[in-house]
Amino acid sequence: MKLFRRKKIQKVDEIEEKNSNNKRKNRTNEDPQHESYIEKIALEGFHIPMDIRDRGYQIEQRAGKEYPFRSYILNFGNTSISTGELDTLFRAGALNINFHLSKLTKSQAVNKYKRAVTDEAARALQMQKAGNEIDFTEAIKARDKADHLLQEISDGYNDGFLGTMAVTLFGEDDKTLDSMGILIQDSVEHNEHSLRPLYNRQKDGWLSSLPLSPNMLASTVDKRFFDRTAIVATSPFYSSKIPFSGGVPLGENLHNRNMEFLNVFAPYLENYSSLIVGTSGSGKSFSNKYISSSQILLGNRIFSIDPDGENGPICVLMGGKEVEIREGGQNTINPCALTEEEVEHTLPNGRRVSQVIVPIGSKVGRLVSFYNKLLDGMNSQEKELIKKAILDVIKDWGITEDPESLYEKEKRPVRQKNGEIIYKKQRKVEFTLSDIYKQLLKNNTSGYNLDNLTFQEMIDLDSRRLLKVLRGYLRDRPDGIIFDGQTQFGGEKIENLLDDIPWVNFNIKAIEGSDIYDIVFYVLTVLGWEYFVKRPSLRKYRKRLKIEEAWRMKHIDGAMLFVEELARRSRKYNAGVDIITQDLKPFLNDPNGQAVVKQATSALFLRIGAMNNDEKEELQSIFNLSEGELEIICRKPSESENDQTKGEGIIRVGGSSAYIKVNVSDEMRAFIDTDPDYLIRNGLMPSVDEIIDENSEMSTEEKEGVFAWG
Ligand SMILES: Nc1ncnc2c1ncn2[C@@H]1O[C@H](COP(=O)(O)OP(=O)(O)O)[C@@H](O)[C@H]1O
Ligand SMILES: [Mg+2]
Repeated sequence: MKLFRRKKIQKVDEIEEKNSNNKRKNRTNEDPQHESYIEKIALEGFHIPMDIRDRGYQIEQRAGKEYPFRSYILNFGNTSISTGELDTLFRAGALNINFHLSKLTKSQAVNKYKRAVTDEAARALQMQKAGNEIDFTEAIKARDKADHLLQEISDGYNDGFLGTMAVTLFGEDDKTLDSMGILIQDSVEHNEHSLRPLYNRQKDGWLSSLPLSPNMLASTVDKRFFDRTAIVATSPFYSSKIPFSGGVPLGENLHNRNMEFLNVFAPYLENYSSLIVGTSGSGKSFSNKYISSSQILLGNRIFSIDPDGENGPICVLMGGKEVEIREGGQNTINPCALTEEEVEHTLPNGRRVSQVIVPIGSKVGRLVSFYNKLLDGMNSQEKELIKKAILDVIKDWGITEDPESLYEKEKRPVRQKNGEIIYKKQRKVEFTLSDIYKQLLKNNTSGYNLDNLTFQEMIDLDSRRLLKVLRGYLRDRPDGIIFDGQTQFGGEKIENLLDDIPWVNFNIKAIEGSDIYDIVFYVLTVLGWEYFVKRPSLRKYRKRLKIEEAWRMKHIDGAMLFVEELARRSRKYNAGVDIITQDLKPFLNDPNGQAVVKQATSALFLRIGAMNNDEKEELQSIFNLSEGELEIICRKPSESENDQTKGEGIIRVGGSSAYIKVNVSDEMRAFIDTDPDYLIRNGLMPSVDEIIDENSEMSTEEKEGVFAWG
């Protein structure tokens, strides 16, 4: 009996070991080496009284005792199963669990799901006729889910399995068995799960939950359909490879030694957002740079925000351009940038249609967030004054929801690259912080002078702080150039930059620690959305907006919400957002932040490091990680000098995951590694002389590349 006090999942080698250890402890007078496995686990029998239908007794003659047991089957219903859901069972003590799985052939799985789609559609129809709104929505959801799965399976991105989970619980005596039984039944009873005692089938149940035993619970109702994701949730590392669908090579699968590819644009993904997480030094930037370089080779476009200023070399190598943002520099990013976008509506007849509009409401919200940060928070009166000024400017500039309003009325001649002249409508210049400031003067003061921005008297005293503080961010002040004016970089218009260059990297290392750091971060993200993701001329390209150290968004009210929208809506524009972060907490603590990371349909989890159990559980439930995966991610850093675990982690694409190590060729590594030891060893560390010498000869583009090495 002692043997079965341990939980067992069908993982044979583990069971074998545990059992033999047990045995050694219990019966030292026998030589365990001469016992076969079957002998080791052999039982002395069981009996099931004729008059009892839901209980049996296991006989242990040596102890002169009988123990009661009750066998169950675990029902799952139609909901998906997620990791951690069966923890109560695993922790319940004297309990055997066997999970019997058989893989369906593709055609079996497809047939099964075709039927499910039809069944759910029929149910929906019935419910609609009966006017049962709630069940109708449920059925539609179930149908869509089944349909999605059907797609995945028939495209070969998913597999179907039939599974039965047999459970036998043991107790000291009948009473303990009953109360323990009720307890575990209660605790798994949620989310359409239930633990059903095997009435009149105790023998089958008892046998089915023995190690190595075949499944005796073979009728159709005892089996439940599982897809790959559900399997991962119940057995660590079932799904240890990613189905190949293109994308970029990332590293070696440490289980089967194959190359794994990361396809953030895999056709079966619901959106193209991706996540890279890991502690400092775990290899996030390294992996990201490597991924980026291959993405450029595939013809993708990249807009990256680079807080550590380390993307320069690889970006320039790949034909990209680096823009360095510094205080007192000559670059301007206009936070007022406003472009048209596609929104979806539901018509009264239920049809979804999309429409192109100028999203004035959300733009005003984002600008208010911006001002809120500049002003270190605003009271509601101040907020109102700012909002009014912004709306007045928008009106004054003739901008409405109609996209035409972003363009001038008259067509003008434009010379094309090939010398040809065509007539087209030009985009209006953008309004700027100066325009909003002037509007504040008009709205709240008397005797104002819009040329030198002075006034005689303040009419609305609530505008006092606004007029004073915001004056410091206008163009004639040192902090003003960066935000006040048309967006341009070294005299080059952002349009030209984005249209002609595959990768634009914004290096913001120079302003690290300055007051404007967070706000520059935010404004660049807004720029990425307005100008890069939504850009009509880039429509045909797949695009990545890469935000490194993205947790910084928590410093700005409303920014997480913005990133969430960005991640969700960019698929429409053939684009995805990459969130690269060392810290998940700021995301998990914020509902919008949670949505941001949960939405990521592909992810690379590098080493996160030791965590307490609560944190582990949270991580596990949000990302549906298996025990084995979690173990890898939570490993402590190695203390050895030649630690090879950097770049090791779990890659996840849709429902599949694999344990990999990011591998980079030596040639590529020279452009990616930032470890000083590595650079010196390989003669790659530029000396101070070199920088000064080359400076005088190189173009600015190349110069920036060299600086970023340091
Ligand atoms: N896959 C890898 N293979 C070899 N070395 C790596 C790998 N990933 C990271 N490293 C080493 O670790 C250093 C730090 O990695 P980095 O990506 O900058 O960490 P972070 O997660 O803080 O961004 C790199 O410069 C490189 O030397
Ligand atoms: Mg980094």
